[in-house]
Amino acid sequence: MTNLAEYIETVNGIFDRENFVSEPHELYEPIDYTLRLGGKRIRPTLLLAANSLFGGDIETVKDAALGIETFHNFTLLHDDLMDRSPLRRGKPTVYTKWDENTAVLSGDTMFAIAWRYFLRQPTTQLREILQCFVETAIEVCEGQQKDMNFERRGLADVSLADYLDMIRQKTAVLLAGALKIGALYADAPVEDISRLYDFGIHLGLAFQMQDDLLDGYGDTAVFGKKTGQDIRDNKISFLLLTALTMCDDTKRSALTGYFSSKDNMDEEEKVRRVMEIYDSIGLKAEVEKNVDAEFVAAKRSLDMIDAEENLKKPLRELVTALDGRKK
Ligand code: IPE
Ligand code: IPE
Ligand code: MG
Ligand code: MG
Ligand code: MG
Repeated sequence: MTNLAEYIETVNGIFDRENFVSEPHELYEPIDYTLRLGGKRIRPTLLLAANSLFGGDIETVKDAALGIETFHNFTLLHDDLMDRSPLRRGKPTVYTKWDENTAVLSGDTMFAIAWRYFLRQPTTQLREILQCFVETAIEVCEGQQKDMNFERRGLADVSLADYLDMIRQKTAVLLAGALKIGALYADAPVEDISRLYDFGIHLGLAFQMQDDLLDGYGDTAVFGKKTGQDIRDNKISFLLLTALTMCDDTKRSALTGYFSSKDNMDEEEKVRRVMEIYDSIGLKAEVEKNVDAEFVAAKRSLDMIDAEENLKKPLRELVTALDGRKK
């Protein structure tokens, strides 16, 4: 396979052929609902492309592709509950369509099912692969907790470095981990695995910064998530941190007020007022510039990997696709 479209088609085929339904159906229906909704399936695509980069065989990484995506979807079930998000992939989130207990237990089960997928494919590298998977999973949870802590910590207490550390863990390590796991199956050289991991980290940072951007400026109908949610949740996002460096004192104190508010201001009114400040300082263009710089860093890491250029092409196409993504 030499282009991204073929990888995405292959990944979608793997999911189409898989059965996620079992009994009791109250437990499995939300799992099937979530995994069938698809999403972009970036992580299994990265895993497959990384494997091919070092001459791997797709057949041996199909289960790992299912495993990494099932893990990602587990984090979404819990994240939507924690963030009180009503929409995902343009459809009601599991905790709203069913209930909170369902999001917890179906999510937990997906974490276990992810393990089962990894164990289904015997390979001599399995111990190292599971080691990567488990360390990645722990980091995602650590990043998620830091994200929640930021909601309570004062704005003055959270720096850009804190934010980058948080998104590296909650988002970037999973993209990097997917790439590393794909490369491990192909027995890639350690130096290249490390460069590939760096590529995944830069890509993941850019991806999450852009997710924050889309949370403010995306189109709900395309993005598939209700916009403004980070503002409603008092999230310390890349939008907010960048805005604070651009504002005059009056606007900065207004923003600080909105994001520490436990007052009774109507949520939609708060979103409207914050976006008004963001627009007034030209925030979108400034954030886009920073996101692009991170995508450029990702491409630089990819350049350094010792692999055939035609095998790198799908990964380059993925960077371009993510750079222009609207969902
Ligand atoms: C959503 O990830 C969670 C973040 C890390 C921002 P994706 O944007 O990859 O979600 P899907 O799987 O494509 O829906
Ligand atoms: C995603 O962060 C991180 C994880 C799912 C672990 P967000 O909370 O920003 O993701 P979305 O915006 O709900 O997809
Ligand atoms: Mg969320
Ligand atoms: Mg979240
Ligand atoms: Mg988000």
